[in-house]
Amino acid sequence: MSMFTLSENILLGCATAATQIEGGDKNNSWYDWANIPGHIADGSTPLRATDHYKKVKADTSLMAKMGLQVYRLGLEWSRIEPEQGKFNKKAIEHYRNEIQLLLENGIQPLVTLHHFTNPTWFEKMGAFEHEDAPEIFLDYVRFTVEELCDIVSDWITINEPNVYTVNGYIFGTWPPGKKGDIRTLSKVYTNLCACHIASYKEIHRMRLIHNFDPKTTHVSFANHMRIFEPKKTWNPLHRLSNAFMKYGFQDALTQAMMTGKATWPVNRLPLKVSDVYIHEGRYYDFIGLNYYTRDAITTGKRTVFEQSPVNDLGWEIYPQGLVDISESLYKKYVAPIWITENGTCDNNDSFRCRYIYDHLLAISKSTLPIQRYYHWSFMDNFEWAEGEEPRFGIVHVDYETQKRTIKKSGQFFSEIIKERGVTESMYEKYVKEETYNYL
Ligand code: BGC
Repeated sequence: MSMFTLSENILLGCATAATQIEGGDKNNSWYDWANIPGHIADGSTPLRATDHYKKVKADTSLMAKMGLQVYRLGLEWSRIEPEQGKFNKKAIEHYRNEIQLLLENGIQPLVTLHHFTNPTWFEKMGAFEHEDAPEIFLDYVRFTVEELCDIVSDWITINEPNVYTVNGYIFGTWPPGKKGDIRTLSKVYTNLCACHIASYKEIHRMRLIHNFDPKTTHVSFANHMRIFEPKKTWNPLHRLSNAFMKYGFQDALTQAMMTGKATWPVNRLPLKVSDVYIHEGRYYDFIGLNYYTRDAITTGKRTVFEQSPVNDLGWEIYPQGLVDISESLYKKYVAPIWITENGTCDNNDSFRCRYIYDHLLAISKSTLPIQRYYHWSFMDNFEWAEGEEPRFGIVHVDYETQKRTIKKSGQFFSEIIKERGVTESMYEKYVKEETYNYL
């Protein structure tokens, strides 16, 4: 008997990001940021991480053994372009080999060009605040895509432009550590949109030059979206804050990134990036959604609904939200949906099987064209300002010895891929005994 079966059209795998797993790179904004005391909760830096850069072979074998069908990996820009305009062939070779290895193992890669981290030289210039940022980013994209587009058809230009900008310019918890700077937020949002649109067009153009049928090229961005709800629906201030925050955090930016139609807080987009024209259009081949949680909005604040199930970072676990957001995006933008991230911080792996079960069950019940599911994350990793302590992996990492051990949730996910769903005996074995923690 099966508890649920997944459609044959959905491919399952995991996602990671370069800075969070690779280790060994000192030439980036997060290494610099982490070296200032107080910035990272547990004092760790991304220099150690999981040492994946050196362990690509073994890690890829492990992914293959677990049966991953797809894998989303990030590139470290600072390795590829360590100085402005100077590109490192060796770094590209490394990524090319990694991608080849994935392909040889039957794992389809999805490559992220930017996942929060900048090269130190770019950060020092003001990163995406700088008016030339889109041109500079496009140089990196052109070099990289030219080198890899014969073996990579699926691309994410930018990961979570809203999280990057809000943490860096409103909360000040991430580099460059500015607080409440709405003017700069607008500038950064605008430049990130220009980067995405110009990259979208360039990747398509370059693949075409390499004689690929345009239908085989898939480009989008990974959009972090949360469910926003007023904490007390009877309270007009909660309702007002909710509408304002939802719009400012995700809706205006989503529209600008996907269509080039800019409304505040996104400023008017530049007419050109280098020789690429920017205009309204359709800049996505799939809807890329990173989904984690729901917020209960009070007056100007994000909180969590009382008595809700929460993960070890206090984020509400709200599986239905995954499908609800997918549906609202689908209605507006009509394209295949790729869940480019979904996962949870569960330090003892004591409820992750239930989490995976609940989210995939919601997907299995939906009639939306959800084509990919990338679990965040393959292995425990450097969780930005929270450091090494929060564990999101389905594979455990001992940071001292760098030993990898498949967790119970990893076994479960692996069986789901094999069985294309969850059988009754799998439910008994993995899910039945697990319970969430409640607020
Ligand atoms: C990011 C990841 C991060 C995860 C968990 C997403 O916002 O893309 O880099 O580790 O959430 O916080």
